[in-house]
Amino acid sequence: MNRILTIVLFMLTCWNAGKTQRSETDSLKMEWFGDAKLGIFIHWGIYSVKGTDESWAFYNHKISHADYMAQIKGFTAARYDPEYWARLIKSSGARYAVLTAKHHDGVALWDTKMNDLSVVKQAPAGKDVLTPFYRALRKNGIKCGVYFSLIDWTHPDYPGFLKDSSKYDLAEHPEKWARFRTFFQGQIRELMTQIKPDLMWFDGDWEHNAGEWEAAKVRKMILDINPNTIINSRLQGYGDYGTPEQHTPVIRPKDRYWELCMTHNDNWGWQPQDTAWKTPYEIITIFADAIANGGNLLLDIGPKEDGTITPQQVHMLEELGKWTGKHEEAIFGTVGGLPYGHFYGPSTYSKDSTSLYLFVPAKGSGPIVVKGLDNAIREASVVGTDIRLSPKIVGKISWSAVPGLVYIDIPEEARDEYMTVVRLKLDDPVKLYRGHGGF
Ligand code: GLC
Repeated sequence: MNRILTIVLFMLTCWNAGKTQRSETDSLKMEWFGDAKLGIFIHWGIYSVKGTDESWAFYNHKISHADYMAQIKGFTAARYDPEYWARLIKSSGARYAVLTAKHHDGVALWDTKMNDLSVVKQAPAGKDVLTPFYRALRKNGIKCGVYFSLIDWTHPDYPGFLKDSSKYDLAEHPEKWARFRTFFQGQIRELMTQIKPDLMWFDGDWEHNAGEWEAAKVRKMILDINPNTIINSRLQGYGDYGTPEQHTPVIRPKDRYWELCMTHNDNWGWQPQDTAWKTPYEIITIFADAIANGGNLLLDIGPKEDGTITPQQVHMLEELGKWTGKHEEAIFGTVGGLPYGHFYGPSTYSKDSTSLYLFVPAKGSGPIVVKGLDNAIREASVVGTDIRLSPKIVGKISWSAVPGLVYIDIPEEARDEYMTVVRLKLDDPVKLYRGHGGF
């Protein structure tokens, strides 16, 4: 019996060693992404001319395909200032940005040689609006993410540009699908060689399986060009991290790396009637929740067709920037914090877990409390200020191993406008009591 146990244990150790090795390679490439926490998503395309749903407007018959595509004649990029975009993104504290190089409508923002459907060839803009943005990002030290829709509802070889028509069976027309594959893979190659993205952000993989997209080949092509390019999950199982969309996870996601992508109001692109802006407070609390659970936030903005960004979006990015700037050490380069049950709110740790950061909503009152913290607290203070706090240990019984409760009062003047962050410097890496109470 003992020998069997030893063999099983040995096998488990080998298996774990293999896992560790793989994850070490992964984590090297993923390191900046895990530290970055905040990215800005930008949906910019011909849909911002009339302010229709991006691509979905014609797919869902809200507008005809012809009327939708006619918007290209109104896409001017006349006041587009990529340097300003990059500076604005930087001021929010974001460490990376992702721009829609091509949405499901098939319109490229760069000078693709694979077909004629680009704002370069068909819009009054008449130029590549993609490349200058990435140049500006790099100048500002921001990582470059390229959004690329695999589905292309306008391409003549793509099955189904309208929800209920022009579908064809791939098996019956392999030559059409092969042409489409050559086309979209050629566009990816263009983007990889011209933009050299740090991150390829795919979308729309749901319409075909991994075999049909040749997802393994696409991944290999990307990594052959740049082994450090990170790929999001929307490549039918061939990506590097998870992308929950719009909805904050309630349970900590299983993916080691994940990113919540979310709109600033209710739509991805600019839509004049949509005034359902999330407030800076809402965005900051959603962001804190994401990082506390080990994830990133990819927050979307939608510029107008001329490249201007509306005052609400600018305001939100600036407010976010004030907050991320003040609380930098609690956000960037940290890891997800306390598991549920120890603290009523989000928290993060420094990587060595000797600092614990507790995020507290601005308008709270009364002391905060941490349960099950089995460390001595060397110092308690408010991040971004020089205010020291005095934790009170409550209910520590000398003969019991169960730690006492930590109560901390936060004085009124220490409270941030949005979220206050309390830093606990611990004697050692964090140790948690995870029992059922009692002795
Ligand atoms: C969805 C939508 C798309 C949007 C994307 C952003 O996949 O199809 O319109 O661009 O989410 O994550």
